Amino acid sequence: MKSSLSLPAGYRLEFWARGPGSIRISEADAVLWQVPAFSGHVDFFGYQHREAGSVTVEWQRPEAILWAYGYDPADVAEAGITLWEFDDAGLTLSTKAEIGASMRSDPARPAMHFSPPRQWMNDPNGLCKIGETWHLFYQFHPASTEWGPMHWGHAVSTDLFNWTHLPVFLHPEQNLWRLGASGGAFSGSAFADRDGSRIFFYTERLPAYDLFQGYREVQKLARPGRDVLHATGSETVLTLRPDGVEHDFRDPKVWWDEAAGAYRMVLGAALYGDPAVLLYGSDNLSDWTYLGPLYRAPAHYRENGARAVECPDFFPLNGKWVMVMGFVGYTEPATGRHNLLFARVGEFKGDRFVPDADDLQVLDFGTDFYAMQSFEAEGRQIALAWLFNWESRKPAGSPYSGEMSLPRELSLDGSGRLCMHPVTELDSAWQAHPLAQEPDGSVLLRDAPFELRLDGNLDGTSIVATESGALCFELSVSGGRLAVRLAGDDGKIRYQARCGSATDLRIVYDRGIVEIFADYGAVCGTRRGYTNIAPDRVEVISAARFTVSERRAVQLP
Ligand code: FRU
Repeated sequence: MKSSLSLPAGYRLEFWARGPGSIRISEADAVLWQVPAFSGHVDFFGYQHREAGSVTVEWQRPEAILWAYGYDPADVAEAGITLWEFDDAGLTLSTKAEIGASMRSDPARPAMHFSPPRQWMNDPNGLCKIGETWHLFYQFHPASTEWGPMHWGHAVSTDLFNWTHLPVFLHPEQNLWRLGASGGAFSGSAFADRDGSRIFFYTERLPAYDLFQGYREVQKLARPGRDVLHATGSETVLTLRPDGVEHDFRDPKVWWDEAAGAYRMVLGAALYGDPAVLLYGSDNLSDWTYLGPLYRAPAHYRENGARAVECPDFFPLNGKWVMVMGFVGYTEPATGRHNLLFARVGEFKGDRFVPDADDLQVLDFGTDFYAMQSFEAEGRQIALAWLFNWESRKPAGSPYSGEMSLPRELSLDGSGRLCMHPVTELDSAWQAHPLAQEPDGSVLLRDAPFELRLDGNLDGTSIVATESGALCFELSVSGGRLAVRLAGDDGKIRYQARCGSATDLRIVYDRGIVEIFADYGAVCGTRRGYTNIAPDRVEVISAARFTVSERRAVQLP
């Protein structure tokens, strides 16, 4: 198969391929670049076009090319990548607008929530705002829709809702497919030094042959190139684990600590088998010293399956310090829930964290809000999380896996609870259009994101959303307890939270994603369902006042 196209000077083609198959790029009769035969494992290839002109691309076995895109580095920040899709009929190039249109045309893809155009995505990484641009990096497996050797995907936005997809930012340090191993560029975060310079800290899981034990994780830093398109100069800054820490030792978050006059880093780990957050210190960002555990979970968590802390977050907020962490493997005995995130609020003094309360706050009472990462921008603490748990997944055949939560803003309430609200940018990017009620109080929906807001006495509230009469989701408030159920639930896990005398409730729904915010954001619950995801009716029975609004995109990407 072959196809002709003209490319500007400097244009880059990047792709991942596994043989059998081949590709050749030629100009007139001269071969410019070729892979005569892809090997039996996945390899990454990058071709840079040097002189503007017309080329012929020839390939054999299109299924060998697993994910390919091209871009002109001169305008990629605005224009984004162009997808290259090879098949037996030819080569299809999809520009940013065409990628957006094709993503919107997938009836199973949420519209308001970030997802990658293709392939596997998990945790948000490296979140930051540089100038007017929001950067979202994420754990990405470019070779399939399943988890695998980890890279950092990348997208940018000026409003947190309309995203431009960019080239892969960070690669694993070795070809893990070739080694028959997993691992790679694991989760990490962005750090802005006092002079404004940016560094990304992340974990490299070295080639691993077992998913659950015996691997090595080291901490690295990477500096972004001037255009923030690719990570340059990666440097390993921390290899040695402290006594009591085995394989789990990852997901760094770094800050300049005014009180200590030095840099600080938190890492997720297991300490003698207990999930723990470790504290490190440095004077130069390259040499790190262990300062001790900042938190060690009580035996209860280990006894109920918790293997380690993942993605610890630690940041100042409203005069306090907040710790957020996930306990991988933990199942809560009382409800059967797993994949939970926990928050603690307290004081951080002399490198010790003293929580204000004994109990951990369950940050989200669903089980699909994980690996949350927050960052500070212009005085706001903004967070995104990965909406997934390993129990269920998108139906087979989906071109991608993984969605992010709505961007949320964090705050503390008068009782010291960590609260989350969708960022206000939501209202300008996706305007609310109130929908009329039927005489029976129900509201007819079209296949568009919608939002329900209740205000008043919530006790006795029942909300049922259905698709052709079949359950999509159901939410109830009774005796100060809020509970949610999805079509696929078998009742073994109880998704519920105490909501006390809360008088406000907000639900944002987007093709299978239900995000619940009650009690001014102190009680949040997120679920991701895959059945009956396009409800056509919602019935609300409540003593509270309520409105249902459709959310319509103001601008199409
Ligand atoms: C959380 C996590 C992180 C790790 C990454 C690997 O989902 O397991 O701890 O860095 O995902 O993809």
